[in-house]
Amino acid sequence: AQQVPDILSPEFAADPYPAYRVMRESAPLIWHEATQSYIVSRYEDVERVFKDKAGQFTTDNYDWQLEPVHGKTILQLSGREHAVRRALVAPAFRGADLQDKFLPVIERNSRELIDAFRHTGSADLVTDYATRFPVNVIADMLGLDKADHDRFHRWYTAVIAFLGNLSGDPEVTAAGERTRAEFAAYMLPIIRERRENLGDDLLSTLCAAEVDGVRMSDEDIKAFCSLLLAAGGETTDKAIASIFVNLLMHPEQLAAVRADRSLIPRAFAETLRYTPPVQMIMRQSATEVELSGGTVPAGATVTCLIGAANRDGDRYRDPDRFDLFRDDLTTTTAFSAAADHLAFALGRHFCVGALLAKAEVEIGVSQLLDAMPDLRLAEGYDPVEQGVFTRGPQSVPVRFTPAGA
Ligand code: HEM
Repeated sequence: AQQVPDILSPEFAADPYPAYRVMRESAPLIWHEATQSYIVSRYEDVERVFKDKAGQFTTDNYDWQLEPVHGKTILQLSGREHAVRRALVAPAFRGADLQDKFLPVIERNSRELIDAFRHTGSADLVTDYATRFPVNVIADMLGLDKADHDRFHRWYTAVIAFLGNLSGDPEVTAAGERTRAEFAAYMLPIIRERRENLGDDLLSTLCAAEVDGVRMSDEDIKAFCSLLLAAGGETTDKAIASIFVNLLMHPEQLAAVRADRSLIPRAFAETLRYTPPVQMIMRQSATEVELSGGTVPAGATVTCLIGAANRDGDRYRDPDRFDLFRDDLTTTTAFSAAADHLAFALGRHFCVGALLAKAEVEIGVSQLLDAMPDLRLAEGYDPVEQGVFTRGPQSVPVRFTPAGA
């Protein structure tokens, strides 16, 4: 049998995709000592764990993965409690709220960032754009002070490091826990004040939301906002950097998108399939479960490799090729992420922000293409991705004719 590379090894961090293939083909269920979890990699297994039709999985693992940095979030809730919380928060991320209130916020924040470099002729789309844009959007949606965006950015970086700390570095853990205290000290007074002066922003919507007589406490709202920083910032940040690398490395597909912007949702769906920002998600087994390759006992942690499942040859033809025109994506010009890939998970915890993320990518990509008609990668660029838990391009240096030149 082929040697299966360790998910904590440097080779895996450099390029996990060959390892994913070995796992899918010859070791679809692995006991992993260091993370004390069973690793699954095939599309059918990851899909089954996420959908959880038989009620065999919980998200109790988030009690140690998320609680120390965020407090109790929607991801830790289950059953009716989760359904009510979902009903409280979800409307803010779709429909009229998204369309009327937040699209202008997205447009404004993207434009501000682009205006800062469009006259220069060069930029790094990671540091100058992607790592800033989604976090700024969330802070602005919540109605927080622009002057605090840098602070948000710092907290969000510490939270991401905590979540990706698979090897348990104590300094990273301590920094994550400090962030929780700092964020609470910042956010709780703002929430109390906002309850007294409701406005048109997301924070006011969360304060006022009521379903079946249930409302969120200050602590619930603070934990949700904290989760948004990571769940909505980090992920969309990596998706935007990746969609640019994928398109710039495939100039004919970039040209197609440039000519027809209604292809952006397809390019986004294919990017999420091919280079998913969240590469792995854990669950806890509530009962014994039969999966490809063996049995997982009750009470075990299961690591679902989204990055591996999304390249499963039993699900996608020619899975290692980036092709926004592939016919096994159902997305045409509309958006049906749930059917296309596992990057937003599936089932109860399916990403609440999927439509918001799509709006950010559509607007961001379109604005960048408009501002830079001859956008190209810097000469000699060699794409390097980093991250094991979440993953994305380290940098995307680009060149273009400066605006007004
Ligand atoms: C849930 C990925 C953007 C908010 C999830 C989950 C994944 C995911 C994989 C499921 C986690 C699990 O089941 O354990 C992504 C990706 C994004 C993205 C790849 C961008 C491309 C966003 C945005 C927001 C957001 C923009 C909001 C601002 C959430 C929330 C949940 C969630 C609140 C928890 C839902 C629940 O527990 O019911 N996301 N996300 N995400 N996401 Fe996203």
